[in-house]
Amino acid sequence: MAYETRDTKNISRISEALLRWYDANARVLPWRVAPHLRKAGQKPDPYAVWLSEIMLQQTTVASVAPRFFRFLERWPDVAAMAAAEADDVLGEWAGLGYYARARNLHKCAGIVADEHGGKFPCTEDALKMLPGIGDYTAAAIAAIAFGQPAVVVDGNIERIVARLFAIDKPLPGAKALIKERAGAIWPQQRCGDFAQGLMDLGAGVCRPKAPKCSACPLAGHCAAHRLDLVEDFPVKPAKKPKPLRKGAVFALVNAKGEVLFERRPEKGLLGGMFCLPGSPWAEKVSESPAHAPATAKWRRVGEVTHIFTHFHLTLGVNIAKAPKGFRRGRKQQWIAPKLARVPTVMKKALDLALKDRGI
Ligand code: ADE
Repeated sequence: MAYETRDTKNISRISEALLRWYDANARVLPWRVAPHLRKAGQKPDPYAVWLSEIMLQQTTVASVAPRFFRFLERWPDVAAMAAAEADDVLGEWAGLGYYARARNLHKCAGIVADEHGGKFPCTEDALKMLPGIGDYTAAAIAAIAFGQPAVVVDGNIERIVARLFAIDKPLPGAKALIKERAGAIWPQQRCGDFAQGLMDLGAGVCRPKAPKCSACPLAGHCAAHRLDLVEDFPVKPAKKPKPLRKGAVFALVNAKGEVLFERRPEKGLLGGMFCLPGSPWAEKVSESPAHAPATAKWRRVGEVTHIFTHFHLTLGVNIAKAPKGFRRGRKQQWIAPKLARVPTVMKKALDLALKDRGI
C-alpha cells in the first residue's frame, strides 16, 4: 500500500518547492544547462544529453564526467560519432563497463545520422526505437533535451517517490506504482529541470543512507518523514547471494614487453573487447594451461576478483614469455600494457601479472 501525501490535490506545491530548490542548488555538470541559463533561453544539445544519459546508465556521475569530455572532444557531434570506427568507440569506453552500451552508442549515432538527418527525435516513443535507449533513457532525453512532459524515473527518483508516498511494496514489484505516483507530481513546465532537480536531491539530500531531511525542500510533503521511517523506503526485495565463478587468464609477453590480447566474441559479457586469453568462467574450472594461448613456462602470480551484476568472478593470473616462433592468431593482438584500453577486470589481471614479472 502507499500513503497519500497531504498534497495529492495540491501537487504543484511539490514541483514548485523542488524547482525552487534546484534553482539554488543545481550541481554544475558538464552535460547540463544550468537552470538560470535554461530560463534565459539556452537550449541543451540533444547529442550531449543523449551521450551523457547512455554513459550514466549504471555508472556514477563522478566516473562519467572526465570521460564525457574525452568523448565530446573526439566526437563533437552525432555525425562525427557515426563516422567513427566501432573499435575506437569501444576503446574509448574501456573501463566504463557494460560494453553493449558502447556498441549501441555507435549504432545509434549511425541511425540518427542516416535516418533522422543528424537530429535526435524528440518524443519518447521515437527515441525508444533507437538502439540502447530504453524507457528511462527515452524519458530523460525527451524531458531534458526537448522539455517534453516525460516522467523520468531513475534509482534516485524511485527512492524519493517511494519515500514521499511511503510505498511499502518491495522493489522491483513497486516500479509501476512508483512511476504512477511520480506522474502525479510531475509538472507540465520545466520537466527537464524537475527531473534533474530530483536526481540532485536524490544524490545529495534524499540519500539511501543518512538522508539529510532537515535540508530537504520536500520534507513537509514526505509520508516516510512523517512516519520517521525514511531509511526504510524504498522496500528492498530479499537478497539472493551472487553465484561465484572462476577462471584463469594467461598474460603472454613478447620481447618488446607487449602482451597478447584476444578479442571476445561480439555477443555476451565484455563482447567485442580485447581481453587476456584464458579459460571459460564457470563454477568449477580447471586452471590448466590447456587454456593458454601458447605452450610456455607459465607462472601463476595470484588471483584477482571482480564483481559483475550477476556473479562474483575470481581469475587465476598467469604469466610467461612468448616462446620463440610464436605467431599470434587472427583475433589476437600484441598491445603495449600502457596502451591497453581493456575492461576493468582485465586491467586488474594485467596489473597483477606485470607487477611481479618473474619471467
Ligand atoms: N544520472 C542520470 N542522468 C543524470 C543527469 N542528467 N544528471 C544527473 N545525474 C544523472
